[in-house]
Amino acid sequence: MKIVKKFHLGRLATFAPNRGLPVYNWVYFKEAFSRDLVFLLAESFGLGKGNFVLDPFCGVATTLLACNQLGIDSIGYDVHPIMLFASRVKLRDYDVEALKPIVRKLVKLKFEMPRVEVPDFVARAFSKSILEDVVFFRQKISEVEDERTREFLLLGLMNAAMRCSWAFKDGAAIKVRKRRVPPLRNELRRQLVRMCHDVEHFEVKSCRTTVKWGDARRTELEDESVDAVITSPPYLGKREYIYAYRIEQEILSLGGPPADGLIGVRDGGETEDFSEVEGFIEGEPLDAKLYFKDMFTAIKELFRVCKNGAKVALVTSDGCFRDGVVEVCVPLSEMAKEAGFRAKRVLVVNRRFCTTPQRKKVGVAQEALLLWEK
Ligand SMILES: C[S@@+](CC[C@H](N)C(=O)[O-])C[C@H]1O[C@@H](n2cnc3c(N)ncnc32)[C@H](O)[C@@H]1O
Repeated sequence: MKIVKKFHLGRLATFAPNRGLPVYNWVYFKEAFSRDLVFLLAESFGLGKGNFVLDPFCGVATTLLACNQLGIDSIGYDVHPIMLFASRVKLRDYDVEALKPIVRKLVKLKFEMPRVEVPDFVARAFSKSILEDVVFFRQKISEVEDERTREFLLLGLMNAAMRCSWAFKDGAAIKVRKRRVPPLRNELRRQLVRMCHDVEHFEVKSCRTTVKWGDARRTELEDESVDAVITSPPYLGKREYIYAYRIEQEILSLGGPPADGLIGVRDGGETEDFSEVEGFIEGEPLDAKLYFKDMFTAIKELFRVCKNGAKVALVTSDGCFRDGVVEVCVPLSEMAKEAGFRAKRVLVVNRRFCTTPQRKKVGVAQEALLLWEK
C-alpha cells in the first residue's frame, strides 16, 4: 500500500469549493466534501452511464448530486434526519413556475404574532423579533399541503433563520454571540429567490438517484451490485452530529439521529466484544475502539455489496485526543485488506496539529483519501 502526499487535493476534501455552486450550497455542512472531488474520482474510475455508485454516509448528498449531474445512477444512506432532509430537498425535481408565486406570496404575508413555545437553547439563539418571525413563517409553511413545496420552503427558512441567529457552532457545542443581524423576511426572500433561480438553471442528466434512511453497517443492497463507492464516514472523535444541529432540528421539527445509530457513538460500550478488531485498538481510548469496530462492520458491508473490480474512495482523518493522535487512515486501509479489498493507495491531502484545550500540541493528524479495489 503506497502512502503518497497530495496536498493540492486538500481543498477538494472540504466544503469550500461548493460555496459558490448552485444547489450544493443550499445548506452549509462543514463536514461535506466538494462536488469537484466526486467529478475527479468519477473520471479517474471511468464511471459513466450504466454504473451504480454508493455513498453509505451521504451527508448532504454531494456524491449523489454530482452523480446526478454526470448521469450516473446512485444511492446514498444516512442516519441523521437533518442530512436526509437536506439531501431530499436538494435532489428533487421542482416545477419552478409553480414555486415562484408561492414564494412571492409567502414573503409578503402580513405578520401575525404567533405563540412562541421553543426550548431555551433556541430562544437564546435569536433576538425576540427574529424568533417571532421564524415561528410565524414556520407556522405558515407548515400549512402548505404539497410536501415537496413545504420542504423546499422549510429548507429556505432554516438557512435564513441560521443567518439571522446569534448562534454559531464551535465543534460539537453551540455558542451564542449577540451581533447585528439582517431582518429575517429579507433573508428568507433572498434565499428562496436564489433557490428558485438555481432550480431553473441547474442541469442534471437522466439517471436514478435514491437517498434513504439507512445504517452503513447494514444496507439492504444486493450482493455485488455496486460499481464504485465515493464516501466520507464520520471522523473519529467528532461528535458534532449529535449536538450541533439542535437548532436546525427544532426549526424543521425533526428529531436527532438514533442513540446507537452514529458510527462510534453510544453509551455503555465498555462491555462490548472487540475481538474482531483486536489488532487495531490496543491501548486506544474507548471512543476509538467503538469507532474501529463500527467501521470494520461498515467496510465488510461495502465488500459484500461491491462488484468484483469495484473501486472505493473514502475520505477520512486521524483522530485528535487529549493524549495524542489516534491513527485512522492507515488502520482503515489495513481493515479493508482484511475484509478482502486491495488497498491501493493512501493519498494524504491535509495535515493539522492536534492540540489540548490548553493549546499544547500533542501530534499531527493526517486527512487522507483512501483508495481500495475489490
Ligand atoms: C463526513 S459526513 C459525510 C459528508 C458527505 N460526504 C457530504 O458531502 O455531505 C458523515 C455522515 O455520516 C453519517 N453517519 C454517521 N453514522 C452513520 C451510519 N451508521 N450510517 C449511515 N450514515 C451515518 C452522519 O450523519 C454524516 O452525515
